[in-house]
Amino acid sequence: MSKLNILIAASEIVPFAKTGGLADVAGALPKALRALGHDVRLVMPRYYLVDREKYGLKRLEGSLGVPMGVMGELWAGVYEGLLPQTDIPVYFIDYEEYFGRSDLYDTNGEGFADNDNRFIFFSRAVMQLSKKLHFHPDVIHANDWHTAAIPVMLNTLYKHDRDFSATGTLLTIHNLQHQGKFYKGVMDVLAIGWEHFYDLEDNGSVNLLKGGIVHADAVSTVSRKYAQEICTAEFGWGLEGLIGKYSYKLHGILNGVDYDEWSPAIDPFIPNHFDVEDMSGKVLCKRALQETFHLSQRPEVPLIGLVGRLAEQKGIALLSASIHKLLEMDIQIVMLGAGEKWAESFFSHIAAIYPDKFSCFIGYRNDLAHQIEAASDLFLMPSLFEPCGLNQIYSLRYGTLPIVRATGGLDDTIENYQNDSSNGTGFKFYDATADALINTVGWAVHTWYNDPNGFRQMQHNAMSRRFDWDVAGREYEALYYTIKEGRKG
Ligand code: ADP
Ligand code: GLC
Repeated sequence: MSKLNILIAASEIVPFAKTGGLADVAGALPKALRALGHDVRLVMPRYYLVDREKYGLKRLEGSLGVPMGVMGELWAGVYEGLLPQTDIPVYFIDYEEYFGRSDLYDTNGEGFADNDNRFIFFSRAVMQLSKKLHFHPDVIHANDWHTAAIPVMLNTLYKHDRDFSATGTLLTIHNLQHQGKFYKGVMDVLAIGWEHFYDLEDNGSVNLLKGGIVHADAVSTVSRKYAQEICTAEFGWGLEGLIGKYSYKLHGILNGVDYDEWSPAIDPFIPNHFDVEDMSGKVLCKRALQETFHLSQRPEVPLIGLVGRLAEQKGIALLSASIHKLLEMDIQIVMLGAGEKWAESFFSHIAAIYPDKFSCFIGYRNDLAHQIEAASDLFLMPSLFEPCGLNQIYSLRYGTLPIVRATGGLDDTIENYQNDSSNGTGFKFYDATADALINTVGWAVHTWYNDPNGFRQMQHNAMSRRFDWDVAGREYEALYYTIKEGRKG
């Protein structure tokens, strides 16, 4: 098979900018593809927080013309760097007015009013950059609504452009909740022609993700289960009918995780290393974390970790409804997260009421995320929906048994505990109710206290599971070849 030219466009990429798992994926998948021999390149916006010096970014000569319909042509700068420890080029679209802000998408929970123009601009810049570089991609891989306009642009504005005569598109949906819905007037900025309005139309508005689903050669989600779920009204956010119609081009490819970053034997952020053969370091990590979070240093109490965006998706309403009952148990909970203001103040308040049982850090801290993974005995993810979820997979590696709601990637990656055989890697519940959550935490805590051998066996199971990127990378590779073949047809 000939090697592919792959252009991956994402609104965030580790290590340059990150708000969630999309950045982890966009920073890790390319390495797996490169290892398979492909010419893979990345494009993202040059946000204010992307440190040019630290990453040695160089400005490409000249400016990039980005036509924006009625707004005329805007001129962007382009910086070039490498994904650290690789030879994979990363291009940064620089446009002060759109990306020279300290936040990526919103400020104080309010999306920026010009997010439509910002990401239409970015999508168009990806196309223009590809031409400027004479890259001739076999596949452009777009991610989420921010870059969902790319497949639309390819099939309309660039339909007869010879630079893209062999180019196909993949759109990966990391989260269907966010679709990029805007006033229909943005059609004049997209400038694809009003005859294409109905490909993007959603109750009179423009829906960029919808357009991407209609126009991409293939659509994928980040777990198999989520690929099935989004065809239903419960998880489809209004697009279930459309997705059902295009289900022939829908794929589920489970994310991998980067074990160079997330392994207790080498993790530079944790105070003591450990592995499945020798868990003594985990006990020390727990003690250190209890100290960091001002909890009593009791090795025998089960410590439950929580790390994530405090967003509705993550089940924070369920958790808040359950928290008093949960804290009746002899447990400790450590939480790291930021997001919805009500949740930030609610959980800070809980920490004040239960100082020796519940402790939280409101904010974003990568080092603490690692320390919580390493130190906790159990890890709670009561998500209402979860396209993949990465933290539960990290938890497995650290012998921290996940307690999850069986949805999307959580269901695909966690095997439920079997009381009699100690099979399984975690504890699952199905109903999105406080009772189900409380009972399942109770079940896990009971196992911790009353069946330490079973618990140990599960840790062993969990730590032996692997979700390597080279597996996911090969699945993407196969899909790219299918897309390329399909385009020829
Ligand atoms: P999502 O992308 O929906 O936020 P994922 O589980 O896929 O969920 O990925 C979340 C990523 O962001 C993980 O790498 C997690 O460790 C990280 N993360 C989330 N919140 C925080 C935080 N407050 N501090 C540090 N890391 C965080
Ligand atoms: C999204 C999803 C999360 C997934 C991540 C990476 O943010 O919410 O479940 O793991 O994307 O694909």
